[in-house]
Parts: sequence; structure tokens; C-alpha cells
Amino acid sequence: MPSLRQLFTSALLAATAAHATLVNDFTCESDSNPIVFLHGLGATWYEDLNYMQDWFQLQGHCTYAKTYGAYEGFPFVGGLKAINESAPEIADYINEVIEKTGASKVNLVGHSEGAFQSLYVPKFEGVSDKIDKIVAIAPPTHATTFANLYDLAYIAGNLSRAIVGDVLDAVGCAACNDLGPDGPAIERLNDGNPIAQPGNTLTIIASKHDELVTPTTTAFVHESGVNNIWVQTTCPLDPVGHIGEAYDLNVWNLVKNALEDTPNREFICLLGSPGK
Ligand SMILES: *[C@@H]1O[C@H](CO)[C@@H](O)[C@H](O)[C@H]1NC(C)=O
Ligand SMILES: *[C@@H]1O[C@H](CO)[C@@H](O)[C@H](O)[C@H]1NC(C)=O
Repeated sequence: MPSLRQLFTSALLAATAAHATLVNDFTCESDSNPIVFLHGLGATWYEDLNYMQDWFQLQGHCTYAKTYGAYEGFPFVGGLKAINESAPEIADYINEVIEKTGASKVNLVGHSEGAFQSLYVPKFEGVSDKIDKIVAIAPPTHATTFANLYDLAYIAGNLSRAIVGDVLDAVGCAACNDLGPDGPAIERLNDGNPIAQPGNTLTIIASKHDELVTPTTTAFVHESGVNNIWVQTTCPLDPVGHIGEAYDLNVWNLVKNALEDTPNREFICLLGSPGK
């Protein structure tokens, strides 16, 4: 008879194997909109929001993600291209998900640069009518004053700092320039016309302890109908920083409440993950 431990291990292996075949599966069926996840600077589809993607997939959502903004020859470091070059890639992917799943709308969940794109793409790429809910985690909406934006490129990934450094030396980081104070993409997003597009429900989630997207209030979109929330309003003791936001169960639960339209659903706050 197998021990409890063996049973547990085989259940875990089965779940992991199931996961690998479940995400990005265009035959997946769900009552809710497909969720498209948008990773941060320097990351890829399989790193940054991948654990959150698994979590939603295992709860009956159909989830999709693709690396955007990577240069040819450097596929392991995404999000480096200028915002306006990555944005059409993301719009194409949204259209692809719509087409292949047969859904009429998708939901978007983005982190960091991906969160910025979840605001930028609907506004400028003509796909807002294909999007229902948007949850943006720590977007540098009004720029970040964080001194060394290049550090954002090191936030995720299985690559060493040296490798990422070599890639940055080779291709630069147009997105970094775009997201700093007076960056071209920042100015364009904040051109005086609303950020939230008709028909889109927008939730912004930020942590008071975010050390890379600063000041932390830069994330919020002050327009009627936009739900701006601090992680700490619900979970006051969560010390989560910028990178940890992608891996923090409290954040995941806040995203779930926004996507499932259950803003008052209670969950048990865990201590959370500190910045790095
Ligand atoms: C895209 O943004 C960059 C700045 O990051 C700018 O130099 C370029 O002119 C823009 N391209 C278009 C087509 O708007
Ligand atoms: C990073 O992960 C990807 C996907 O698993 C893999 O193809 C790539 O070789 C990895 N890179 C390094 C440097 O380990």
C-alpha cells in the first residue's frame, strides 16, 4: 500500500503535469472570459506571472500568456522593446486568443510593465471592445521615479544578472526609457484623454511597500469607475514589494475578487512575500 507521502507526491506530479498541458490550451473551456497575463520587464510568459496563471487555471479559468517585446536572438528577456512596439504584439495576441477560443472578450491581468500595457493597449491598439475586465498590478502609470529603471529588467527570469546585462548592452532597453519621468509612453498614456476605455472595468492593485514603482501612488488611475486598491487595505501586514507582487497569494486573491466580481469575498491574509 502506498504511503501518504507517496500518494501526495504522485498527486503533486499529476497536478504539475496537468498544469503543463493546461495553460495556453486553446481547447480549454470555462464559463468565464479567457484571461491573458502580461509579464513585466525582463520577464517572459513562463516567468513572473506563471504561478498566478497556474493558480487561476487550476480554479477553472482558461489562461493564456505570451512573451512580448523580446528582440530576435534574445527570446529569454522580454519587454525590452519600446512600449509602442510591444503594444501591437500584445493586441495581436489578444485577437489570436479571441479567434482561437471563440470567446467574445478576454480579461487582462498585468504586472509592472505588463500592467502598464494593460492600460496602454486598450487605449491605443483598437482592441478595447475585446476586453472586459482589466487588473493592473503596480503599473508605472504616471512613470516611476525609481532611479535605476534598468533594475526592472532584472526582476524575473532564470537568467543571471550577467546574462541580462549582456542583453541590455546588446539591444538596450527602450521600454526603460519609455517608463521613466517624461518618458514618451508615459506622456502618451496621460495625454489628457481617459485611460479607462468604455466597456472596460479597471482595477489597479498597488503595494505601499513597492520599492521599484515609485512613488507608489503613481499606479492609480483617478477616473470615475476605476477601482484603486492597496494590498494593505485588505491585508495590513503584507510587506510585499514589487517583485513579490507576482507571487503573493493575497494579491492573487485580490485579482480573483476583481475578475470574479466578488469584491467583498473574504480570504485569509497570509504574511505575504517581502520585496525580493
Ligand atoms: C515609439 O516610441 C518611441 C519612444 O520610445 C519613439 O521614438 C517613436 O517615434 C515611436 N514610434 C511611433 C511609430 O510612434
Ligand atoms: C530559461 O528557461 C527557458 C524555458 O524553460 C529555457 O528554454 C532556457 O534555456 C532557460 N535559460 C537558462 C539560461 O537557463
